Amino acid sequence: MGNFMNIMILGSGGREHSLAWAIKQNPKCDRLIVAPGNAGIAMLAACADINILDGGAVAVFAEENAIDFVIIGPEAPLAAGVADRLRDAGLLVFGPSQAAAQLEASKSFTKTICDAANAPTAAYGHFTDADSARDYIRTQGAPIVVKADGLAAGKGVIVAMTEDDALAAIDDMFDGSFGDAGAEVVIEEFMDGEEASFFVLCDGHTILPVGTAQDHKRAFDGDTGPNTGGMGAYSPAPVMTDVIIQKALDEIIRPTMDEMSARGTPFQGVLFCGLMIQNGQPRLVEYNVRFGDPECQVLMMRLGGQVLDLLQACAEKRLDEVQVNWATDHALSIVMAAKGYPGSYEKGALIKGLDSQPEDSFHMVFHAGTTNKDGQITATGGRVLNITARGHSLAEAHEKAYAMAHGIDWPEGFYRSDIGWRAL
Ligand code: AMP
Ligand code: GLY
Repeated sequence: MGNFMNIMILGSGGREHSLAWAIKQNPKCDRLIVAPGNAGIAMLAACADINILDGGAVAVFAEENAIDFVIIGPEAPLAAGVADRLRDAGLLVFGPSQAAAQLEASKSFTKTICDAANAPTAAYGHFTDADSARDYIRTQGAPIVVKADGLAAGKGVIVAMTEDDALAAIDDMFDGSFGDAGAEVVIEEFMDGEEASFFVLCDGHTILPVGTAQDHKRAFDGDTGPNTGGMGAYSPAPVMTDVIIQKALDEIIRPTMDEMSARGTPFQGVLFCGLMIQNGQPRLVEYNVRFGDPECQVLMMRLGGQVLDLLQACAEKRLDEVQVNWATDHALSIVMAAKGYPGSYEKGALIKGLDSQPEDSFHMVFHAGTTNKDGQITATGGRVLNITARGHSLAEAHEKAYAMAHGIDWPEGFYRSDIGWRAL
């Protein structure tokens, strides 16, 4: 592949727009294709409308288009084994195998691994029938957390403050509201504390931290309203001090990675560690096997073009040869969503004011759910835009991002006015 690479990114959200934006800044990036992409991504890369859950189709497309490196954004293709299929076809791939993606795709799998690795996490029970699940809840009492075992698009977790709510969650899960994901449940001890996300690259051997972030899961100001995929994020997370980072690496991440390797299913890709920190001790809430969305947007804003070298080294199992060049900067991203999200919302409204927004290494509007209709950008998703800025302080990033958000004219959209409040 020489010094120049033809790169393909799989996905269509703000995460993938930010990956494409950062990778495009690296002079090694020759051709960039994103499948399927969105209207914002189409401004900087070619978009290809292929089914990214079909590993065979992606492999054929990659071969026909002389792709050197495939980067997989979302969890669904990873859980479907697309990375394996592409590696079988001889492609260089960033993203874990189907077996290693179980760390996100099955909560009970992760709990078993944590047990074996002796990693601090919530006490739990794993159930395949509603009666034993109910018995466990009655014995443990509330607050308690009920989780569908499988992938449920971020909706499979109920933090129940009362026993009745927990029992109702069991009824829903075994009634099929969560599809196959709910046929098995994990019930966990409620953990108090402050949540933060820690991102590390792993190549099956070396672990390389690439940043910390915090997001805002609730829809409305003051962390109220329903849970969403994330309404905003910032990086770094002040709660993730050097001491906590080292504890997370030594007590949670390294033992997990070693256990995965010992089982013959080494993890290769980005591990997104959701942590709960209380009294100086991190405990694992969950793993994801991909970058977070919108956490990726703030990480990419801070890492820039070097991210291509890091992801490539990860895919080539040479993470021990690279290092991250950090600036002492901060980034913040505001999610603009369609009114009604995370419930039902209208599609197709026109978004104005995008052309007048600055776009440089300190300011970027990433698109998450947009379509270009006859040259006009329209909203076609729940989460639609990620207004992202970088500064020397979090306050500066915050000010810049909100100034941009105020300049966008989209009456059918909304955003939180307090992203970053905890850290500011
Ligand atoms: P998960 O998909 O496992 O990250 O769960 C979604 C959210 O539910 C987490 O980000 C936490 O805010 C919350 N949560 C999950 N598990 C627990 C737990 N054991 N104790 C307290 N909160 C939790
Ligand atoms: N923002 C949370 C996630 O990507 O899972």
